[in-house]
Amino acid sequence: MKNIKAIIFDAYGTLFDVNSAAEKCKYKIGDKWEGFANYWRTTQLEYTWLRSLMNRHKDFWQVTEDSLDKSMKVFSINPLMRDELLNLYKVLSSFKEVPEVLKTLKEKKFKLAILSNGTPTLLNELVKSNKLDNIFDDLFSIEQVGIYKPDSKVYDMPIQKYRIKKNEVAFLSANTWDVSGGGNYGFNSIWVNRNNNIFDNLDYKPKNEIKDLSELIKLI
Ligand code: LAC
Repeated sequence: MKNIKAIIFDAYGTLFDVNSAAEKCKYKIGDKWEGFANYWRTTQLEYTWLRSLMNRHKDFWQVTEDSLDKSMKVFSINPLMRDELLNLYKVLSSFKEVPEVLKTLKEKKFKLAILSNGTPTLLNELVKSNKLDNIFDDLFSIEQVGIYKPDSKVYDMPIQKYRIKKNEVAFLSANTWDVSGGGNYGFNSIWVNRNNNIFDNLDYKPKNEIKDLSELIKLI
């Protein structure tokens, strides 16, 4: 991959493990913790897409709460766990290779940014709690444009700020639909396929697929 000027990362699922909140409570939740975590995540994303289509925006934190409330009912989770799960969601753990890879990319002088559905407050807190606060040039939040991914206004933000071409961006996401969104927009999308999943049929196939971010170094 040549002429890359900026490396832009999705946050949830790509840098930070969305299942880590429920996983930290797995002894209280029991075996269903993983099904519950996946359902919560899927519902959260569906709400972002539906709210964008309905033109009824609520920020990502409210959407996270709303989707948690439904998921807890579906999986019969003790309502007293609500605050604990939400507090853990604010400090999700990064995947283990993330700090080292970001440090190496920073030393190579790439522009590094996050582009995420998360609110500015959530993104700041995540980066801080994972001790990554000195790494990124920007934390782009969809709150700046008021609509969720994959609207092209979201992917436009770094292009406008850095005044670079779309194909000078390497965009990394573990979320297949976000890889398609960024790729259809014109980014070089790279799929971080951590769990050996099948890609979507949404008119874009990533040229590069990696198992985790450590494989990025040799691609760029
Ligand atoms: C984000 C979600 C899509 O960080 O993972 O934007």
